[in-house]
Amino acid sequence: MATLVAAGMLALTACRREAPPSSGAELTFEAPVSEAGVQAALRMSPVPPAPVDPTNRVDADPRAAELGRLLFYSTALSKDGDVSCATCHLPEEAFVDGRRLALGVLPLERHTMSLWNLAHQRWFFWDGRADSLWSQSLVPIEDPLEHAFTRAGVAHAVHGDDALRQGYEALFGPLPPLEDGDRFPAVARPVPANDRAHQLADEHARAASEGDEHHTHLFGSGFRHPHQRAWDAMAAEDQAAVTGVFVNVGKALAAFQRQIESRDAPFDRFVEGLREQDADKLASLDPAAARGFELFIGEARCISCHGGPLFTDLEFHDTGVPEVPGAPVDDPGRSRGLEALRASEFGVRSAWSDDPEGPAGVKVDFLPSTGHGHGPGEFKTPSLRSVATTAPYMHNGAFQTLEEVVSFYVTREGARQTGTTEKILVPLDLTAEDEADLVAFLRSLTGSPPDLARLGAPNR
Ligand code: HEC
Ligand code: HEC
Repeated sequence: MATLVAAGMLALTACRREAPPSSGAELTFEAPVSEAGVQAALRMSPVPPAPVDPTNRVDADPRAAELGRLLFYSTALSKDGDVSCATCHLPEEAFVDGRRLALGVLPLERHTMSLWNLAHQRWFFWDGRADSLWSQSLVPIEDPLEHAFTRAGVAHAVHGDDALRQGYEALFGPLPPLEDGDRFPAVARPVPANDRAHQLADEHARAASEGDEHHTHLFGSGFRHPHQRAWDAMAAEDQAAVTGVFVNVGKALAAFQRQIESRDAPFDRFVEGLREQDADKLASLDPAAARGFELFIGEARCISCHGGPLFTDLEFHDTGVPEVPGAPVDDPGRSRGLEALRASEFGVRSAWSDDPEGPAGVKVDFLPSTGHGHGPGEFKTPSLRSVATTAPYMHNGAFQTLEEVVSFYVTREGARQTGTTEKILVPLDLTAEDEADLVAFLRSLTGSPPDLARLGAPNR
């Protein structure tokens, strides 16, 4: 607990440097954490302002955020009109679904990710197969397991809805002449070869038609997917116009999502307390959480991957997460993610980016050209901001509670050894009380809940 001590006792030099106490300050405070803890804490808070993505020219435009909000909650962007982003990213559930594995039009192989502080992320998805938030946002729409929709359908949906059309045209200019059904079919898109989601959808279709000899494998030799056939029948400039609308929809969705921020957690108030030498604020971190913080940056070595104000290094590691039913044992994670990133038509260096030559692309310039160099089980280190609100955990939802996650790191029980599992992850010599303290610290990272008046479903 923070204690008020008389001047002359050991002062917190770090605090002095950050925020010199006003002259004549006679009192100073003793922090409930070590000097190393003070130094680390000052680097981990506050969350800096959301950076603007130069590859998305409407990223910081409030009109784009408002359009993005309509799109995020619209079920019109799905095959049967019953799936929206909010089907899996529920606003009143901290933008996750509470499921182990996500469920869209069909079951997914991975756990729904949280949407906190997305503007600070470098790669998107568990395997980092998107390099911008706007290009990420396009994937679920055409994913046959999620919205199972097509980009031509998206253009028609925007065109056919007054609010969407007005919001869109005010920002991006007139839509193409979508009323011309010969030029613009209702359903059309390119279907990427070897796309995992399409293979899975194909497997589901095959299982559903068991015994039906006439069922054609969607990926059978020489078979062209009907959506691809419709796409191929379009003129190149009409294809480009439709893809342009689709990309703009992704950019508006990004502008909406970058507002979903986790800030002002008890841990942040504690760090303010360090800076301002304010005893009340220092007390925001209770003694268990303060001990947990020391373990987090010390003996438990969590900070080596979960450092910085987002509590993530923004990169990929194999932590040996145990298998769960329904998720593949051999999910290749980052190695396949890298290949998908290379194949993506919507990269930050592509013609669809608003800054293809700019510095945002540096991160992709030096990536290995294949998945080689990445192990089979590497996944993105999740941010731990507001992590207590987003159970279950890990890319496959293997753990239901934070207690289970911490116990996994401490005991390493059930950990898969893939050969690339991080060497740093060894059983830790910690007590049950230490584990509880680590959990208490993780809980101190819960920021204010999302402002649903601004971020919840719009009244339409
Ligand atoms: C069927 C459930 C489902 C739907 C619908 C869905 N998502 Fe997701 N979302 C997921 C899952 C599962 C992942 C992780 C997938 C993976 O890594 O392969 C994810 C990942 C994300 C991420 C990446 C976060 C990060 O830190 O990398 C963002 C952003 C996101 N979704 C936004 C959206 C948007 C925008 C929509 C609507 C266009 C949407 N999602 C629709 C389940 C869903
Ligand atoms: C070697 C890097 C590394 C270290 C060290 C590490 N983590 Fe992680 N952490 C990860 C990665 C990567 C994931 C995601 C793994 C996956 O889904 O397969 C993760 C997932 C988590 C999650 C789940 C978050 C979510 O939203 O699903 C929590 C909680 C967590 N770590 C806490 C900790 C704690 C506490 C420690 C210290 C005891 C720690 N981590 C040490 C890399 C690391």
